[in-house]
Amino acid sequence: MIRRRVQFPPTVCVIAGDDAAPEVVRPTVEILHSLVPTIRFIEALSGREAQERYGEVFPGETRDAIDSADCTLFGASGGPSRPVLWYLRWGKETAVNIRPVYWHPGYRSPMLHPERIDYVIVRDNLEGMYPPREGDIAELAALPSSSTWWQAPPLGKEGAYAVRVCTDEQVHRVAVAACEVALQRQAQGYPGRVTVGAKYSIQPRTDGRFRTIVRETVHEHPGLSYQEFLIDDLARRMIAAPETLDVVVLTNEHGDILADAASGSIGGLGLSPSACYGEQYAYFEPVHGSAPDLAGKGIINPTAMLLSGAMMLDYLGYTEQGRRLENAIEQTYREGTVLTLDQGGSAGTTEFVEGVRWHLTPSIQKIEASVVEER
Ligand code: NAD
Ligand code: IPM
Ligand code: MN
Repeated sequence: MIRRRVQFPPTVCVIAGDDAAPEVVRPTVEILHSLVPTIRFIEALSGREAQERYGEVFPGETRDAIDSADCTLFGASGGPSRPVLWYLRWGKETAVNIRPVYWHPGYRSPMLHPERIDYVIVRDNLEGMYPPREGDIAELAALPSSSTWWQAPPLGKEGAYAVRVCTDEQVHRVAVAACEVALQRQAQGYPGRVTVGAKYSIQPRTDGRFRTIVRETVHEHPGLSYQEFLIDDLARRMIAAPETLDVVVLTNEHGDILADAASGSIGGLGLSPSACYGEQYAYFEPVHGSAPDLAGKGIINPTAMLLSGAMMLDYLGYTEQGRRLENAIEQTYREGTVLTLDQGGSAGTTEFVEGVRWHLTPSIQKIEASVVEER
């Protein structure tokens, strides 16, 4: 989708993460390695494993491995690996989170017509309600702007507040990325329609600003169309009329929540990939978290992680191999014989991955044969 110049051969830092996340990361790396043997995968530890080995959850060795790689493949944080996630987002300034939402035959969607679902969420990855900036409500009265608030800060009460931040620079980055995605999709036959969802009616200074900057940026592209909805109405449209969506631009918190809802509409978190792009760095992780309820059971669905790996191959310039992986996954779902429990099957993680590998095997043999011929 978005690509930058990388070293050759590229190096990928692999951070498996917490709970069940390593169970999807490790087979994904094996598959990616078989597709592109030239990529150097360097695994770095985080969380409990790092604590045991180095005495800290985010050791300098892991930070160096992230910094010296072209990008990172990350499982998920269940808490212990959170400092690494924070570094991948705010330390590496991965400003834009891309979360494609599409259904394929075989995905166990609860929707009557899931074939209508094919859009991309472009989410602010750095501002809004995250990272947490919280404090005691007693501090609020000291803010000069508080005298203009519709409701004055509560006096003499105990409680906490959270701050959300919205800089023009960051919103502009998100808006530019959304236009880029819309133009790329338009070249493939999509309508080139950018949709903003935000609460601009109630939060004019922040969400209003977000809306204005995205709208103005889209209007710089005469070939693109623009629409905007209040975020609650957009949530309804994702379910009632998903075919009207192409590229959906959301703030950090709204994008977090609606990406999980969108994932639910196609069949669940096991299916939803994600990529975080910055000007200097990118990292790839599924939409889902560390699925602690599945840890150690060998049943977690690796599709979201594999598809995040395919997005990474595209970023590194191995677009054809990424597409091949997506095709193998699509065929596995179309056949439906080795699906995981969340998709109504009875296969474990390994059996599913073997199914995908089986669909890849002919292509891998073709590559090996052509390498031998070239020699
Ligand atoms: P979760 O996404 O881990 O799990 C939610 C539900 O979806 C669970 O029932 C789980 O079993 C299921 N699920 C998730 N991934 C699945 C998969 N690949 N296959 C099959 N089922 C899957 O969210 P949660 O339980 O709310 O959070 C668990 C932890 O993950 C929390 O600590 C949270 O903060 C963290 N988290 C981290 C990230 C990240 O690192 N980017 C993202 C989301 C949540
Ligand atoms: C996600 C997660 C994270 C987020 C959390 C763990 C900070 O939910 O990647 O969707 O909200 O971005
Ligand atoms: Mn989330």
